[in-house]
Amino acid sequence: MPELKYISPVDQAKEISFSFGDEVFMPTATTDFLISAVAKEILHSDTLLDLGCGIGIVGLTLFLHGKVGKLFASDVSKEAIDFTEDNAAKLNVAVDARVSDIFDGWKDHKFDLVINDISGVADPLATISKWFENVPSNSGRDGTDNVRKVLSQVGDYLTPEGKLFFPIISLSDVDRVLDCAKTHFHSVEKVFSKSWFLPEDLETHSEVLQLLRAEGSVNYEFKYGKFVCYTDIYMAQRN
Ligand SMILES: C[S@@+](CC[C@H](N)C(=O)[O-])C[C@H]1O[C@@H](n2cnc3c(N)ncnc32)[C@H](O)[C@@H]1O
Repeated sequence: MPELKYISPVDQAKEISFSFGDEVFMPTATTDFLISAVAKEILHSDTLLDLGCGIGIVGLTLFLHGKVGKLFASDVSKEAIDFTEDNAAKLNVAVDARVSDIFDGWKDHKFDLVINDISGVADPLATISKWFENVPSNSGRDGTDNVRKVLSQVGDYLTPEGKLFFPIISLSDVDRVLDCAKTHFHSVEKVFSKSWFLPEDLETHSEVLQLLRAEGSVNYEFKYGKFVCYTDIYMAQRN
């Protein structure tokens, strides 16, 4: 089974091995951004739900940095859950991992911290990108379908002081996600932001990109002969 030697963005001296396969999501820069942002904002959380966990990298890395008491993880993909359980066992971490469409598998559970990383890239780009080869996306034409569902449902799964972290990638309708977040949360704070160049496999689809930007479904700048996108990480709280 292939192994990813992951250098933790929290501590470059810490290398963690994760097994992965063709049919699960391969961690990206957003993985690093989420881990860095949560590690900076959170001293310790008794319970964490890693939502859209893929191979389990976000929750397991934060656990190994002592940020989490008890780890929960879920993904709609059975392969992802198999890898998460396997990686947790090899790292000697106890995890309650479940196949679940968004929150379906967590009825009657409450968490102190939820990290949402369910796919949020405009479908016309997700379907041609390498990121989602063999991996479910189904985020809608503007990339917001999954995150808006999470934002509207997560209140039932957070403790009263609980926090939600979520990324917004500019390959989605950023304003629509933010408006939705503000209707469901008292406090919505941007805690991290980084720009990045669009990968080559998407650069060649400039017509699709232009069309999506013209209709407001995605956002990017064209600078230095490159498409420049960004990822923001938000922390939201009801109280
Ligand atoms: C962007 S990947 C993130 C994976 C992991 N957090 C990482 O950083 O590598 C998104 C994950 O969301 C999962 N996913 C897609 N739709 C979902 C849904 N409706 N419910 C739960 N998970 C979903 C995918 O299977 C994929 O593993």
